[in-house]
Parts: sequence; C-alpha cells; structure tokens
Amino acid sequence: MARVKSSFVCQECGYESPKWLGKCPSCQSWNSMVEEMKNDYSKTNHLSISSSNKPQPISRINMEEELRINTNIHELNRVLGGGIVPGSLILVGGDPGIGKSTLLLQTSQSIAKQGHSILYVSGEESVKQIKLRSTRLNIHSDQLYVITENQLEQIESVILELKPEVVIIDSIQTIYHSQIASAPGSVAQVRESTAHLMRLAKSNGIAIFIVGHVTKQGEIAGPRLLEHMVDTVLYFEGERHHTYRVLRSVKNRFGSTNEIGIFEMKENGLVEVENPSELFLSQRPIGIAGSAVVSSMEGTRPVLVEIQALLSSTSFVTPRRMATGVDQQRVALIMAVLEKRIGMFLQNQDAYVNVAGGVKLAEPAIDLAIAISIASSFRDQATNPYDVFIGEIGLTGEVRGVSRIEQRVKEAKKLGFKRVIIPAKNLKGWNLPAEIEIIGVNTVAEALEIALGGNM
Ligand code: TYD
Ligand code: MG
Repeated sequence: MARVKSSFVCQECGYESPKWLGKCPSCQSWNSMVEEMKNDYSKTNHLSISSSNKPQPISRINMEEELRINTNIHELNRVLGGGIVPGSLILVGGDPGIGKSTLLLQTSQSIAKQGHSILYVSGEESVKQIKLRSTRLNIHSDQLYVITENQLEQIESVILELKPEVVIIDSIQTIYHSQIASAPGSVAQVRESTAHLMRLAKSNGIAIFIVGHVTKQGEIAGPRLLEHMVDTVLYFEGERHHTYRVLRSVKNRFGSTNEIGIFEMKENGLVEVENPSELFLSQRPIGIAGSAVVSSMEGTRPVLVEIQALLSSTSFVTPRRMATGVDQQRVALIMAVLEKRIGMFLQNQDAYVNVAGGVKLAEPAIDLAIAISIASSFRDQATNPYDVFIGEIGLTGEVRGVSRIEQRVKEAKKLGFKRVIIPAKNLKGWNLPAEIEIIGVNTVAEALEIALGGNM
C-alpha cells in the first residue's frame, strides 16, 4: 500500500524525482517539476493484442452511419459539427460566471428529454443548488441524474454503474485523483483526471463534456493544458456585462473549426440567437463617421458585423493603438498601408478600433472594412449605411481575393444592404445576384474613392 504511485518529472528534460524540487538538478531549470502518475509497467509487460483490437485493412472497416446525439439546440449542434459524437471528449472552456454550467444544464435537459440518459457531475455546487438553478431553467427529467462528487475514482465507478450516454464534469479543476498528492486544479490533477476520463469515454462509448475555467496564469491549471488531449475544444466567450455569448469551436476532430454559436443570456437561461447579423447590427449608428460593415465568415456561416474606429489627435509621444475584437497587429499594418499608399497622416492620431457586439473576428477578409472605418473617422465623413466591405489588404495596398464570396454577398442582400464592395478578383466564377450592386476593387485607394469620395 505504501508503494509510491506518483513522482515528479521535469517537463524540460524528463528528470524524475520522488519529491518536488524547485530547481531541476539535471537541467537546472526552475519550477519545471510536475507530479505525474507512475504506471506499473511490470505487470503489463506481456501485452497481447486483444481480439477486438487487431489491425485491419482500411477497405474492410465498415462505417456504420455515425450516430450523433442531437442536442436539439441548433447553435450547439452546428458548433459540434452536427451533434454529439458518442465516445468523444469535449472541453468547454470559459471565464468563471460566463454561463458554462447554465449551457450544459440546458443541454442536459434537451438531451434527456429525447430519452437519452445523462449524468451531471458537479464538483462546485451541491445537489440542492443545482436543483435551485434547474427550477429556474425549468429543468426536470427522469433521465437526468445529478451528483456532487470531487473524487475521480468515485465518479468513475458511478459512471460505470449508471452507464449514461452523456456525462458532464463541472468542472475539471475541482476533481482530484486520490493517488496524486497535488491539490485539485493543479497541472498534475487536471491532466491525470482528463486522461482517465478520456479512457472511460473511448472504452465505453460515452460522450463526456469537461468544463474548464479559464484562469489567469498561475495557481490553477487552465483548459489550454488539455486542448491536445480532447477531441473537441469549445470556448464560451462574451463580455460579462453584455448579454450575448459566443460558443466557438477551436478544435474539432468531428467537424469544422471556427464555427460559432450565438446565445443570449436571459432571466431564465440561455436563448439561441437565430439571426446573429440582425443582432450585431441592431444598435448601429447611421450617418456617423467611423463605422463600416463587413460580411465575415464564422465557420460555415456568414455574419454581418459592424467595425468602428475612432481617431483623435494624440497627446502622447507614441500614439495609442487599441483594438478589441480584431488583432491589434493587423490594425497597425492596415494603418501603415493607409499612410504609405494613400498618404493619410496618421502618426499623430490615437486610434481605437472595435468590433461592435463583443465578437472576435480573425479572418483577413475584414481588412477592407477596418481600413474604411479608420479612413471614415479620420476624415470625419460617414460611410453609406447600405454599403458592405469585403476584402483582404496586402502591403502594397492591393485588395486580395477572399473565400466564399457568394455566401457573404447573399447574407448582405438578405439584410437589405444595397451595395457590396468586393475584391475585383472575386467578380468571376459565380452568378452575381441582381438586386444588389456589386463593385470590384483592385486597391484600397479605389475602395476609398467609392466609399468616401476622392477628397483627402
Ligand atoms: P454559470 O452558468 O454559473 O457560469 P459558469 O458555470 O461559467 O461559471 O452562469 C452564471 C451567470 O449567469 C450568473 O452571473 C447569473 C447568470 N444567469 C442568468 O443571467 N440567467 C440564468 O437563468 C442563469 C441560470 C444564470
Ligand atoms: Mg459553473
């Protein structure tokens, strides 16, 4: 019983020690020792391939129609790639208080309602507290089982006894393995618990959702640590003071990534947002300088979003460059192009660029709208509220082609926009729709001329 089951391993060089050390005696690196479980390989030396696990010709593997569990929540289904794949491990990360437990409780209810059995393991709230929240969310199903438990071995045995189709672990940072001395939430605990759950999921065909709080670097291990271990990584994001929440897939072995699902946090839980473009544009100011709309692809869906810029003369030696929702480096690059190729004098201007509604945009097709909003604010001249801008900007000021132009334009048309300015290269190869004017541009200068007229 007294046998050592865990040891501390240097993450830099692999040096092993029975005790924690601040500095690795082998490679001299500091703070690199992490507790790891010791596997007893002596007993499993003579591995024999079990009959169910033999190599087989790929042509003979029969692929039964992969059965996914429909969550009945469209936004979640899409982010997962069409429902929950049995036996998969899904990490749901996000800031504390953003709504992860709410989302997963509602998902549980929705799945249980269709007759699937589901186990909700909470390490944070008592069964009574969960019940209290569930009453508010109108959750009641005989197929939804709830338990408060922190010890991994106990959770494992409950799962094996109950054999549910879906398990939710809320949260991984509160779970501990009794053989590991480190505190719950430490790198060793979080990693070991996840590895156990992974095996459990794969060998029993149970889909397991793991909730992971995103934390400031330090005391407890965050979900980033687990990203490579799990099948699917979803992040639940949003401003705490805004009501919308975005569920984004950043890794998915069973679907496309960068897919987003949009929800709104209401009094009695999360509600799906069916038409995000409408939501994001709902508070758009009309006729004010510094605003431009882009049709951005979020996964497989086009979403119209407003980009806002504010330029004002600086009182600092180095002007400020702030960006929320878009990459700050990208904004700096676009401003450099505007200076050099258009001749805008931006060096004494503070610039703030913001994506309205708290979404984050990462694709290059938003460049042109960023440039137009900056120019619009700089010249204090409003853009036409019925214009949409699409295009990537190159260093010579050229507007480069983007993917899926047809879908982007279609979404703009659907929302009543009258004109889209797109890269000239994207004019060919598809049927241009009739009721919306489409203008192709080769350079940022051309786009500015169309959007704001020629004056500097
Ligand atoms: P929660 O799901 O507990 O967040 P997490 O599990 O990510 O820590 O969400 C908590 C927040 O959501 C809390 O601030 C209250 C709010 N909320 C609502 O606005 N409406 C609701 O119906 C529920 C259940 C929570
Ligand atoms: Mg929670």
